[in-house]
Amino acid sequence: MREQIKWWQKAVFYQIYPRSFADGNGDGIGDFKGMIAKLDYLKELGIDAAWLSPHFPSPYVDCGYDISDYRGVAPEYGDLDLFKQFLNGLHARGIKLVLDLVLNHTSDLHPWFQESKSSLNNPKRDWYIWKKGNGKQAPNNWYSAFGGSAWEYDAATDEYYYHYFFKEQPDLNWKNPAVKEAMFNEARFWLNMGVDGFRLDAVGTIFEDESYSNIKLKIDQDELFRLSQIAETAKDHTQVHLYWMKMFKHQVDQPEVHQIMKDLRKVINKYEDRVLIGETDDVAFYGNNDDELQLNFNFPLMRTKKLSAEHVRKNQKERLSALPVGAWPCNTLGNHDSSRAFSYFGDGVNDNIQARLNLMLLLSLKGTPFLYNGEEIGMSDYLITDPKKFKDPLSTLYYNLDKKVMGAPEPNASLTGAERGRDKCRTPLQWTNEPNAGFCPAGIEPWLPVNPDYRKGINVKEQEKQTDSLLNFYRFMLKVRRENPALISGEYQEIETDNQSVLVFYRRDAQQVLLLALNLSDTEQQVVVNTHDLYKMKIIANTVKQQPNVSIHSLALSSYQGLILSEVQISG
Ligand code: NOJ
Repeated sequence: MREQIKWWQKAVFYQIYPRSFADGNGDGIGDFKGMIAKLDYLKELGIDAAWLSPHFPSPYVDCGYDISDYRGVAPEYGDLDLFKQFLNGLHARGIKLVLDLVLNHTSDLHPWFQESKSSLNNPKRDWYIWKKGNGKQAPNNWYSAFGGSAWEYDAATDEYYYHYFFKEQPDLNWKNPAVKEAMFNEARFWLNMGVDGFRLDAVGTIFEDESYSNIKLKIDQDELFRLSQIAETAKDHTQVHLYWMKMFKHQVDQPEVHQIMKDLRKVINKYEDRVLIGETDDVAFYGNNDDELQLNFNFPLMRTKKLSAEHVRKNQKERLSALPVGAWPCNTLGNHDSSRAFSYFGDGVNDNIQARLNLMLLLSLKGTPFLYNGEEIGMSDYLITDPKKFKDPLSTLYYNLDKKVMGAPEPNASLTGAERGRDKCRTPLQWTNEPNAGFCPAGIEPWLPVNPDYRKGINVKEQEKQTDSLLNFYRFMLKVRRENPALISGEYQEIETDNQSVLVFYRRDAQQVLLLALNLSDTEQQVVVNTHDLYKMKIIANTVKQQPNVSIHSLALSSYQGLILSEVQISG
């Protein structure tokens, strides 16, 4: 097994959000020059692959996920030469690079859409989804997931175009083979340059139900927002989720998408060793017999307020049993669309130690782990509550909805915008404790405000010097993973114990037995593990300084203490 394992199964991926990672030219916006300067940082961190959020030219309505040229580099980030330097710099250090490929939609400023829009009989008219209105109304009652109708009226041609996301992100018509060929050629452009694969944006949204029939739902989008605002219990949240699924059932996960995924897989299979990663938790995207995407995220793992042992157990049971034979899991706890894991899963008191435990969990579960830039120093959500400073239009959407639907006063609506938008997790990387956290020079305004906690030790430079910093724990854990192949290819096997608050499992293969014991609670826990003579095992990783109390079959773990124990090989 160890021998056959592919690089993307072994790899720890690290998501780079280019606008916020490192600013090389001092204009307050991250860029390739900055990323190139941090290549050694990435190497020392110990990651194996980087996923770069969109780096393409874009009007930046949806923070780069509205692409106006799939073969270019956003001028504020640099140019193709700098891109190549970055790619080569990563490869020289043994790090792979996957790009973000947005298949569902382009920017409305993309030349394809500009042509499509220009007249009813333009050859590219059918590259997007255009429909006649229903009298003076939109073709049907579908919503955009980013608010309002999914249809935008074009007065010049008296038709509506469809957009699942913002109106500046018109959906491509994937029923048209010319669209498929054109987009696959964009992908080939980067594959030919040597990139190692793609993270496929919003794959579930590529096709729509061709009947275009109205949704029948008791509630409208305003009401759904209201329900989501007042949701308290897990049951309330599930109800909101179910309504959401119903609202968009004609617009996501349509069966035709799987043929496109199969065709795209054939495209990348023509190159050596490339990978496709779906932004979806639908296991159907693994295909049959490995003919679609190699990795799809286990998002349900992070869809909880509390990473309890019970939640992880349930998640692993459901996820691992749902995977098709031979499919490889993929786990993450945060990205550029979610809250930062440090804040979200932290209880506000033990955040730093919880972050260590959560990292140990992520790196020890079966599957490929994805980290999000900044989590290695404990960056947390930074709420930007001034609506004039919102960069993510979703913040503005929720700010307005809160006022309109809930009658919220200004400060409350601003807070809702800050909390439900995504700027909070996209603030600049904190490199030093100098002004602007060393991201850009003093006196320059970074594109999003820097979290001031960089002055309180949440920065790379200071943490590099402290042996027990979170950053050094990340480096250590990544090394532990590299040096203990059972963590990668070993079988995952849960062990039942007398203590439900502690997650205990094996990762083992023919050569190595590892036992993991993670106390995912805030109190000390005693756990009996009958299967092993624990005191004969060696502790190879510990989330806290304190040594655990180990007796023959039991462990006493302090709050949020996690351990990896290895069976000592008796030689001779
Ligand atoms: C998913 C991306 O992760 C998100 O940032 C973006 O807004 C949507 N897809 C639309 O592209």
